[in-house]
Amino acid sequence: MYCVRKVTEDLYWVGANDRRLTLFENIHPIPRGVSYNSYLLLDKKTVLFDTVDWSAGRQFIENVEAVLAGRKLDYLVINHMEPDHGASIEEIILRYPEVKIISTEKAFLFMRQFGFSIDGRIEEVKEGDTRCFGKHTVTFVAAPMVHWPEAMVTFDTTNGVLFAADAFGSFGSLDGKLFNDEVNFDRDWIDDARRYYTNIVGKYGPQVQALLKKAGGIDIKMICPLHGPVWRTDLGYFLDKYDKWSRYEPEETGVMIAYASMYGNTEAAANSLATALVERGMTNVVMYDVSKTHVSQLISETFRLSHIVLASVTYNLGIYPVMHNYLMDMKALNLQKRTVAIIENGSWACKSGSLMRDFLENNMKQMTVLDEKVTLSSAMREDNLDEIGALADSIIESMKNK
Ligand code: FEO
Repeated sequence: MYCVRKVTEDLYWVGANDRRLTLFENIHPIPRGVSYNSYLLLDKKTVLFDTVDWSAGRQFIENVEAVLAGRKLDYLVINHMEPDHGASIEEIILRYPEVKIISTEKAFLFMRQFGFSIDGRIEEVKEGDTRCFGKHTVTFVAAPMVHWPEAMVTFDTTNGVLFAADAFGSFGSLDGKLFNDEVNFDRDWIDDARRYYTNIVGKYGPQVQALLKKAGGIDIKMICPLHGPVWRTDLGYFLDKYDKWSRYEPEETGVMIAYASMYGNTEAAANSLATALVERGMTNVVMYDVSKTHVSQLISETFRLSHIVLASVTYNLGIYPVMHNYLMDMKALNLQKRTVAIIENGSWACKSGSLMRDFLENNMKQMTVLDEKVTLSSAMREDNLDEIGALADSIIESMKNK
């Protein structure tokens, strides 16, 4: 049975929700599912903007057929060719053989690489090109690396709707509520939106900044992303988040303590530091056991907060593997501009602190590693409490300059 939403008087959401998928991109947990958004414009010509993942193909086709109500599909605009949006292209071609596909040169290259038969039906567009579908005229804006190189966004100059591809998306299924003003985004969605952005697009901050600059020059009334709610009010709220995230600026002054502890001793130091920070008035403190927290969540929180404490045991004369993986992910996602404090532990040949400092200073950009650190030899002792206090003082002091 079809299940669609009206977006504007002649634009329909014809996407689908996926609550069965466990891991997005087979790597990121999505306990609240994800939506694959697709939009169908009924103008003089009929125009479909992007498709959905193949897993949602049945729902998608039912939706498209219901909204078309017997009309043929004239155009399919592909803003982003990653399979969570492009996988149903061939099904659309089979069902609507006269359809013309509008996209970028690189997207057509990818379609061929994925094995799609598109010859004779493609219309290549570049930045600034326009198409008139009747009442609606759209213009195409290149958005390379947001989040693949072929990506573009499409702006409807007639009504101010921006088809934003992966930009301004979020994890989470829609549960009937399509628009941002139908949900409490700041309460129920922002964590999933941040985890989506930081892990999926986070590496490409400069490219997102470039897109935001272009967006600043057009009068956007509505943002239709490929995942998550459609934005029709309070656009500035989300644009501001994207601006901060893509400049790698923290949203909040606060401390994330990420600890790797085998027998609870490094965790004890992390607990002491959290307590010392709160006693000094810094209550925006969160703690994560890196062995029990998915790295996508660690990354999201690292983007959110200004200060990070890395507390790690030494393992095989190196950094504890799960902590090392977190650091590698931070680097891969281009995270920068954080103040970091270190707690190290080792029963012999304690190395984790110097190795983490070296990683931060030599592999990442604009990371400030505090001089004070805490070194444990197997377990916390009474005299470590002085080091903990000094580290807490140092973190608080460093916040004064932020
Ligand atoms: Fe939602 Fe880059 O695909």
